[in-house]
Amino acid sequence: MKVLTATQKPFSKLAVDGIRAIIEKNGHTFASLEKYTAETELLAAIADADALIVRSDKVTRDVIAAAPQLKIVVRAGAGFDNLDLPACTERGIVAMNTPGQNSNAVAVLAIGLMIYISRNQFTPGTGSELKGKTLGIQAYGNVGRLVASLAKGFGMKIMAFDPFVPAGTMEKDGVDVAASLEDLYSSSDFVTLHIPANDQTKGSIGYDLISKMPKGACLVNTARKEVIDEPGLIKALTEREDLKYVTDIAPAAAEEMAEKFGKRFFATPKKQGAETAEANVNAGLAAASQICDYFANGCTKFQLNK
Ligand code: 3PG
Repeated sequence: MKVLTATQKPFSKLAVDGIRAIIEKNGHTFASLEKYTAETELLAAIADADALIVRSDKVTRDVIAAAPQLKIVVRAGAGFDNLDLPACTERGIVAMNTPGQNSNAVAVLAIGLMIYISRNQFTPGTGSELKGKTLGIQAYGNVGRLVASLAKGFGMKIMAFDPFVPAGTMEKDGVDVAASLEDLYSSSDFVTLHIPANDQTKGSIGYDLISKMPKGACLVNTARKEVIDEPGLIKALTEREDLKYVTDIAPAAAEEMAEKFGKRFFATPKKQGAETAEANVNAGLAAASQICDYFANGCTKFQLNK
């Protein structure tokens, strides 16, 4: 079988070598398309592929249509909003992600962004510390749990809200369970987002929630740009000169926001939550193994479109 790795934002060399080794050890053929800039390049490369590994690369209906032999696509990472799942299902293509494999890198970045914004983006002036502050974690999944455990080391008080996780799970970790999303926002000096981008969450974080945050609070986004209602965020930051926003996914109005909100706003130049050699290796090798397991014994453990 031919396994194509298509990554606009390439994996580290170590990860690519590891992926290739797993594919070839299992008797398959490895192919790679890195740093491509147009979908047409992917359409050409995928024409004879049986399996596909991607990162945030968009696997659209057109991509699926251009791959008559495709049997499995694995998103090496957590968020799968870049995969057209109905298009995969219609063609009988198995779609998977690699949950948890890059979570540590994202969790560490969330903490790093909190420190960076609290210390005036490392420019002169008096900053503040994380110790004693309340951290609200929106969604207590793989990343949320790691953020909780790291934040405890900084002496933060942790709260979480996740309608899909039993309260007992959070309590066992020493995390206070917020009664509602509104409660989380109104009680937290920092709110960190770890929700997926889907029909329920897109545009769900806006003025009403953000303006409930206490004085000097900061919203931290290492999830997806789409979950933010940008006009609502801008309105809240404009009305409240104490609020801050720090994000790993530049908003559409990033330039305007940087100018308007100064040190209260920061966006990384390019999404880098999972940009560590370790996360690349974890997610890339897991993707390669999942494909080989699927071809060898039909394992569909991480299938998203069951
Ligand atoms: C994920 O959903 O796993 C992260 O956002 C990482 O995305 P990336 O592979 O594009 O860095």
